[in-house]
Amino acid sequence: MNNKNDFNNFINLPSIRDSRGDLTFVEGGNHIPFEIKRVYYLYNVPVNSVRGGHAHKKLKQVVFALSGSFRISLDDGEKKVEHWLRDPTKGLYISQMTWRVLDCFSQSAVCMVLASMPYEEDDYYRDYDHFREVIKKQKS
Ligand code: TYD
Repeated sequence: MNNKNDFNNFINLPSIRDSRGDLTFVEGGNHIPFEIKRVYYLYNVPVNSVRGGHAHKKLKQVVFALSGSFRISLDDGEKKVEHWLRDPTKGLYISQMTWRVLDCFSQSAVCMVLASMPYEEDDYYRDYDHFREVIKKQKS
């Protein structure tokens, strides 16, 4: 990654290509800037579905479009950015304290997420106004 302080950044994975198809691999302790504690994936996602709509207190993630494409909108309380994910070799790193919304899923899109912690509902901010308040307090 170019800048560890950035709340989002692309991580490029190697790909081995030959006439039989493409192969990409992820090595814990090498490609990902945290210990991978959980992997989950979204599939059978209706094209008009909107996912996310939350931020995390501590959780860091790297998100991949293994198949198809979708949009991720990110907001760290000050800056907003949008990314389209469609390349299985490019993972989007998302830091803690980043509000995210995933939408515009293509047909048969598969979203895989590598996560730095097991699932903990207490780690979520699910109310945007509350998230903004916490960010404001942290920065003051
Ligand atoms: P949520 O994180 O809100 O989904 P998304 O951000 O993709 O829209 O999780 C949806 C539901 O699944 C919620 O009830 C919590 C549960 N869940 C787990 O039990 N384990 C997990 O690892 C994740 C990511 C979610």
